[in-house]
Amino acid sequence: MGESRGAAGHPSAAGGHGAGRLDADPVLGLLPPARPARITFDGREVAGREDEPLLAAILAGGVRVLRTMPKTGEARGGYCLVGRCTDCMVVVDGRSNVRACVTPLRAGMRVETQIGLGPSIATGVNTPIAGDNGEGS
Ligand code: FES
Repeated sequence: MGESRGAAGHPSAAGGHGAGRLDADPVLGLLPPARPARITFDGREVAGREDEPLLAAILAGGVRVLRTMPKTGEARGGYCLVGRCTDCMVVVDGRSNVRACVTPLRAGMRVETQIGLGPSIATGVNTPIAGDNGEGS
């Protein structure tokens, strides 16, 4: 049995930097080399590539839940992948409502699941459910 190769036939597409990543395009051929960059997602280290969409690294790292809905708590994991739906909003370096699919990855980003509305600018505390005053019902 020969060496495992990815869909594009390039050896690094089968493994190497990140699972499920392609280093070649069917039309353009081999893509320019990318600089590896590390981020954290909820404290776990994730391998990425400088300037790729943040969402690409997060998904390649196995993360599927990026945020929860403010009212229902339902999990969301990205939908449109082009910056239109807000399903991929995460907290980056303490700033909420960052759309991961249109945000370029930078080494050292501290990315977190956005719970509900995300951390308050004033308090830094997550606001899981809109209108929840913490007194219960
Ligand atoms: S997945 Fe829709 S805005 Fe990012």
